[in-house]
Amino acid sequence: MATTSPVHSTGSPRRRSLRGRALFTGAVATVAAFAAVLVATPDANAASTLGAAAAQSGRYFGTAIAASRLGDGTYSSIAAREFNMITAENEMKPDATEPQRGQFNFSSGDQIYNWATQRGLKVRGHTLAWHAQQPSWWGGLSGSSLRQAMIDHINGVMAHYKGKLAAWDVVNEAFNEDGSRRGSNLQGTGNDWIEVAFRTARAADPSVKLCYNDYNIENWSYGKTQGVYNMIRDFKSRGVPIDCVGLQTHFTGGSSLPGNFQTTLQNFAALGVDVALTEVDVTNSSTSQYAGLTQACLNVPRCIGITVWGVRDSDSWRSSENPLLFDGGGNKKAAYTSVLNALNSAGPGPSSPAPSGSSGGPSPSTSVPTGNGNRLLGAQSGRCIDVPSASQNNGTRVQLYDCNGQTNQQWTLTSSRQLTVYGNRCLDAAGSGNGSAVQIYSCNGQANQQWNVNSNGTITGVQSGRCLDVWGTGNGQQVQIYDCNGQANQRFSLS
Ligand code: G3I
Repeated sequence: MATTSPVHSTGSPRRRSLRGRALFTGAVATVAAFAAVLVATPDANAASTLGAAAAQSGRYFGTAIAASRLGDGTYSSIAAREFNMITAENEMKPDATEPQRGQFNFSSGDQIYNWATQRGLKVRGHTLAWHAQQPSWWGGLSGSSLRQAMIDHINGVMAHYKGKLAAWDVVNEAFNEDGSRRGSNLQGTGNDWIEVAFRTARAADPSVKLCYNDYNIENWSYGKTQGVYNMIRDFKSRGVPIDCVGLQTHFTGGSSLPGNFQTTLQNFAALGVDVALTEVDVTNSSTSQYAGLTQACLNVPRCIGITVWGVRDSDSWRSSENPLLFDGGGNKKAAYTSVLNALNSAGPGPSSPAPSGSSGGPSPSTSVPTGNGNRLLGAQSGRCIDVPSASQNNGTRVQLYDCNGQTNQQWTLTSSRQLTVYGNRCLDAAGSGNGSAVQIYSCNGQANQQWNVNSNGTITGVQSGRCLDVWGTGNGQQVQIYDCNGQANQRFSLS
């Protein structure tokens, strides 16, 4: 089933008219506010791709990808060059992943996952429970049997991708424009279906970030925004597991950037969740709206990244509106430059200021004692770097786990900059690119086993120059190396 225009799909004509005026006013304000960004000349150090530019402030810049287009060389080369987060446009949705009950099919989803991760790009999962793109067999179910089918689906899909994804859109588009719940077949299973989906998801993969995702929740004074906000507030107050809210940011189909977008992002973030712009497209690629939505995210510390809903205009679900950053020929549009300039004008991530007293780049510490067995404690997670099951096998990937003082969490920084465990195994980078695994391996004196423990709290690989990095905070979250970004998920203390 095709999703209809956010603005035209629901709501009375009067509501649409009022909202349209508010959005137009906001867009005009935005033009003035971001004019400076549009004319700014990038300096010599400015990043030249969207992903690299976003990474300067610890954020990502992503795109939706269709598996069927990956064979198009122009498409795949732009996608790999410009973006560092990938969402499957349709391939991880329920109709694609469980076409028959209990028979899962991950071929297209894995095609995208493998394409992305082989290029060092992270992947967002989209989506587990939604009123649209359901398997046809859900149509014959209702009540407790549909509820169980949803639970089984979440468990089946999340087991396949366990530990592999940056986030999951657990529930998608569950609200009406007035802030009430959408009357879907899932809603018919009981009002608690959303929280059951999130609790199921947390149990299925404790390490992945769990998001609620929706459109038309960008304007703070809109009924739907308030409905979603109230649900997230309720979830946080009752301990229902939720980590993030995805604002789809479809400024197409008659919608446009509201002047209070940053307020909305701030208010959601203040509930204790990350926010992300997950499906951005803008009618005729308005440069002021693209710059404005980018700047709003940059201004909110917990806005962790932006994803556009496709690569070229010709790839868009709304191709007639030419809403993306590349034209049909794969050329960069003016909106691309407006986004890149905004990203390049941002300082280091406001969510992760450098520890007080530090300035400039990191320098190897001179105060960290060597020769002492100790913990590698994650600043963001409060958890320790741990060798799973106290394995001594070469190639065992290290993870985060609750600190327990046992030998599989005791690391020794040697005078030759190795981090050893069990006396004869070294912390070892399996590669030097973004996303390379960090594992244990017999100590061999090579540069991929040498680490600088820096005064700013990061630990960088001598061979790669990249930082020890972990995407999430939960037990079992795997450690990798990634471009240093100043965020707390890259700070570890040897303490
Ligand atoms: O693959 C079949 C093809 O074999 C068949 O010939 C053709 C006939 O119409 O349909 C093709 O499937 C289409 C599919 O996209 C792949 O192109 C479906 O009909 C079409 O409904 C589907 O549309 C997707 C839409 O979600 C469905 O709701 C769009 O690609 C996708 O961009 C869109 O994405 C959604 C997000 O998931 C949630 N937020 C809104 C967003 C835009 O609608």
